[in-house]
Amino acid sequence: MSAQSERTLLFVKPDGVMRGLMGEIVSRIERKGLLIAAVKLSKLNKAQAERFYDVHRGKPFFEALVEHVASGPILAMVIEGPEAISVVRRLIGETSSFKAEPGAIRGDFGISVTKNVVHASDSMENAEREISFFFKKREILRWEKPTEKKFAF
Ligand code: RTP
Ligand code: MG
Repeated sequence: MSAQSERTLLFVKPDGVMRGLMGEIVSRIERKGLLIAAVKLSKLNKAQAERFYDVHRGKPFFEALVEHVASGPILAMVIEGPEAISVVRRLIGETSSFKAEPGAIRGDFGISVTKNVVHASDSMENAEREISFFFKKREILRWEKPTEKKFAF
């Protein structure tokens, strides 16, 4: 059975952007063979960050999370590939940078639970909501790598 192609949303958080890790993270996505369908450098204000993380409203870490994500630029991207949602979650590692395995983005670069370098969608439903938070439909490109194109004749 072939794996299902999915789209997911990842963004490099302000700690990752400010520490010069955008290229490293894009590179890891590319090396894994995933396809980048859209990219945007963005800056959320506090209200937008609160809306994005609405599911966490009321939790003890909500304020710190919103403050951090709204503190500087973020690099948002739509990533596509077979089972992309769970593949990207494994690439980023556990939420806490202290528990994430070396080899995972958070395991290699994260410095705390809040400053854990990246966000990634955790389900198909959230991926759809989070992609449309950052991107209009026309900003998401449909393309294929030449190496993966089916024979045309
Ligand atoms: P994310 O949504 O950012 O990809 O992270 P996640 O799924 O791995 O973790 P989630 O439970 O959704 O939490 C969202 C973000 O909130 C911060 N957090 N702090 N102090 C704490 O206990 C705590 N727990 C979560 C983290 O920055 C986490 O990425
Ligand atoms: Mg989450």
